[in-house]
Amino acid sequence: MKNFLIQHIGQVITATITRPKALNALNTEVLGELQELIQDLYRNGEIRGLILTGEGEKAFVAGADIKELAILNRAQALELAEKGQSLFKMMEDCPKPIIAAINGFALGGGCELTMACHIRIATENAKFGQPEINLGIIPGYGGTQRLTQLIGRGKALELILTGDLISAQDAKALGLVNHVVSNRDELMALANSIMNKIVSKSPIAVSNAIKSVNAGFGFENAGYVAESENFAACAATDDFKEGTTAFIEKRSPNFTGK
Ligand code: CAA
Repeated sequence: MKNFLIQHIGQVITATITRPKALNALNTEVLGELQELIQDLYRNGEIRGLILTGEGEKAFVAGADIKELAILNRAQALELAEKGQSLFKMMEDCPKPIIAAINGFALGGGCELTMACHIRIATENAKFGQPEINLGIIPGYGGTQRLTQLIGRGKALELILTGDLISAQDAKALGLVNHVVSNRDELMALANSIMNKIVSKSPIAVSNAIKSVNAGFGFENAGYVAESENFAACAATDDFKEGTTAFIEKRSPNFTGK
């Protein structure tokens, strides 16, 4: 794999996303490799759990790759959102535990990626948010649904509508992360200790617990369909072109409502 460092410790895999120069942004190649990794997690009887983290001190994942997004038309944006949603659903439904060890920014698609994991722990320098609104678009990988499930509609709407970033401590107070630790060593130690505890249980009970918790949050609900269609509708606007161009040109966007 080009974009992941894979380490096996016993029956647990740690996968580190290795695109630190782009703040580990999720481009097509990273998403393709992540899909392979998750498929392997489902299939490989030797592996009992996955810890996901990002390379560097700065970012877990700073979102979908904006340079790739910027050139999508409406149909391509719909396809991208549907593919991302289905990969993240596969993670959420994985019968083996997936822990996000969040070492920095978890923004946009990065925050959505953490929310598709079963457990989230973060270093105190981590920052969370759904800043897509600053690009003239909305979350497209399930964020409108999972953020609402995790922190409630009022706070989810505030984060999605303002694009504000919040600290790890605030994310913990909202229930978005389970634990906050001071540095990467503690992060990986805690991730491994939680994972090892889960791996010591009956794998049948673990998978049934995940299945049962998730059964109350149907993927078939209209929210995911609305999200992908509305993501694509935004991608067809001038405001989206302006928002993504402004990000690439490192300036503030000037939205016109067209
Ligand atoms: N996609 C592509 N490249 C990105 C990126 C992204 N999401 N985030 C950061 N980068 C790149 C920057 O372009 C920059 O590259 P260059 O050095 O080549 O210029 C490099 O990573 C470092 O980033 P910055 O210089 O911007 O670093 P900073 O410290 O000034 O700011 C930041 C850090 C606040 C995280 C800022 O990078 C940022 O706002 N990133 C974008 C966050 C975002 O909007 N995420 C949502 C993406 S859309 C999405 O995810 C849709 C979806 O739901 C499917």
